[in-house]
Amino acid sequence: MFQNVIVRRPCRAMVEGITSCPELGKPDYELALQQHDAYIAALRQCGVQVTVLEADERYPDSCFVEDPAVITRKCAIITNPGAASRNGEKDEIVGAVRKFFPEDKIEYITAPGTLEGGDVMMVGDHFYVGRSARTNAEGIRQFLAILEKHGLTGSEVTLEKVLHLKTGVNYLENGKMLVSGEFVAKPEFARYERIEIPEAEAYAANCIWVNGTVIVPMGYPAVEAAVRAAGYPVLLVDTSEYRKLDGGLSCLSLRF
Ligand code: GLY
Repeated sequence: MFQNVIVRRPCRAMVEGITSCPELGKPDYELALQQHDAYIAALRQCGVQVTVLEADERYPDSCFVEDPAVITRKCAIITNPGAASRNGEKDEIVGAVRKFFPEDKIEYITAPGTLEGGDVMMVGDHFYVGRSARTNAEGIRQFLAILEKHGLTGSEVTLEKVLHLKTGVNYLENGKMLVSGEFVAKPEFARYERIEIPEAEAYAANCIWVNGTVIVPMGYPAVEAAVRAAGYPVLLVDTSEYRKLDGGLSCLSLRF
């Protein structure tokens, strides 16, 4: 169960955030704020305490708080984001993390290692880490050593196409995971009950489990139906403005 969630309000500069899909247009900032409000409300409905950090105009992508930190049951890990324009976000998340973890339970990924939390998927005490354009071999080496130090385990997953691991695969607890594209046939995930996402709704592979409920992006009826059929209550949240920046439900929070 999660007790806490950390989010950061999107900043006006979000319209300049990194994107692989400029054809979707720039985010509408006012609509993004409304969607963020709805996201926070959905999280609260799932019974978590939400810490809302102030917008940080220096970092257009800073609402995607999942990337500069990874929080486990035993420790918090401040990452070293691989995107240059996002790297400084790590220095801004640490203050919030210190409210929940003493210094000896806060670890750091350091250069030349890079790692972003969007590449980390927690399955109990095991952590899958995607090797991506943002997370390199040295970052993964450091991350696995930190996990081991705290009695946790991890393993590497190679990505071929997607930005982050959780762009295409997300664990819904109870042995079930949502998989799309390159993750449908990955041997690493063969032991799980895989709920396959139709290609047309691939974006919605990025759902989050929060205390028994699954939050699903609004507008993806096949994924919504599949999650309901798997036995989960569903809350829908519109993330259209975050999708324009390759962002989704998991990117917008740290859940622990
Ligand atoms: N726009 C989110 C990211 O590229 O990290």
